[in-house]
Amino acid sequence: MKKNIVLGVTGSIAAYKAAEIASLLVKKGYCVQVIMTPAATQFITPLTMQAISQQPVHVDMFNNPKEWDIEHISLAQGADLVLVAPATANLIGLVAGGTAGNLLTTTIMATKAPVVFAPAMNTGMYENPIFQHWMSFLKGMGYIFIEPEEGRLACGAKGKGRLPAPEKVVAFVEHFFSHQKDLDGQHVLVTAGPTREPLDPVRFLSNYSSGKMGYALAQEARNRGAQVTLISGPTTLDTPEGVVVTEVETAEEMFNAVKAVFPLVDIVIKAAAVADFRPRQQVIDKIKKDRAVLVVELDRTDDILGYLGEHKSDQILVGFAAETGEVLKHAHEKLARKNLDLIVANDLTVEGAGFQVDTNVATIISKDRTPLILPKMTKKELACMVLDEIVKLVKVQKEAD
Ligand code: CTP
Repeated sequence: MKKNIVLGVTGSIAAYKAAEIASLLVKKGYCVQVIMTPAATQFITPLTMQAISQQPVHVDMFNNPKEWDIEHISLAQGADLVLVAPATANLIGLVAGGTAGNLLTTTIMATKAPVVFAPAMNTGMYENPIFQHWMSFLKGMGYIFIEPEEGRLACGAKGKGRLPAPEKVVAFVEHFFSHQKDLDGQHVLVTAGPTREPLDPVRFLSNYSSGKMGYALAQEARNRGAQVTLISGPTTLDTPEGVVVTEVETAEEMFNAVKAVFPLVDIVIKAAAVADFRPRQQVIDKIKKDRAVLVVELDRTDDILGYLGEHKSDQILVGFAAETGEVLKHAHEKLARKNLDLIVANDLTVEGAGFQVDTNVATIISKDRTPLILPKMTKKELACMVLDEIVKLVKVQKEAD
């Protein structure tokens, strides 16, 4: 059946791209209903959007309707997706503040459909902590954001804030619909972030993991309809909407939390950077610098993934491998040794891969398929690719049952 998209257009210089977005969506067979804010009509005319969408364009809350229905309610109820592209800081601030003063904000407020914002604005505005605060608040409420691109902006400045090309916005929508519920009924356990191994009351051993990869996986699995449990080491990231989070500090705490939930889950993705060693003695008093050299003995922590591989029944088990050389060789060896179904290997020496950054460069390796060598991409994009591979394994498993 034809999907209904409400395309919200707001008053940004990027509004002209909305015409191309509407055109591509119509060509792909979507029914596109356009709502423009009054400010958007200063940049592009409703007539243009009407001709392209082949539907009346909605601007005014108080139009004399041709047929009796309450416009924002019927648009909100009929939508399979509300896409706001471009979305200004003003519109996003209004939605976050719960105000509903024009047709677009009332529709967003009234709809039960997923809402996707594609922000477009000056870098300073985008990076403004107030805007960032509202954006993360809305993400926490389940609203979806298409990340703006970096580049030359209309104001002449260079930086983040450009609306991605219409093809990319439309690809996002297509991806959203095609993967909407392909993990429905699955319980996914994701581990993320580093662990901290205490040395004394004020010091610990840890690593540079930010948790971004694991959180992206948890969010993406949730978006695809899975029940998601996230066991996370310390991070500064917001809890993904609809995901149950257990916070842990040490490898031992993570091990215990994982063991408790493991029998209940269908899929495990172990993205956490678990410490391999912990200080043998945890000193109760702060270690004083009254010596020239401090020797600390370390013990091995439990290999959580190894345990899961040994004890798994029909669960799908996905590990990560962070390497600094001979990536494929080590990853294949870990896949076999830990009895995994998939391993996501990255070479930490490659630019754009590994800890702290928003991107990754990875190869996805499974038992039977040829390795999927991926280019540099965002962790969110990689999360999609990893889940696509997991969905294939789930299908094979279901066919075999
Ligand atoms: N892992 C784990 N428990 C540990 C250490 C690692 O479950 N104590 C998991 C990680 O979450 C990751 C995978 O094992 O999914 C691989 O981690 P990595 O550090 O690359 O490899 P190791 O197995 O620890 O092997 P090595 O350090 O020798 O490369």
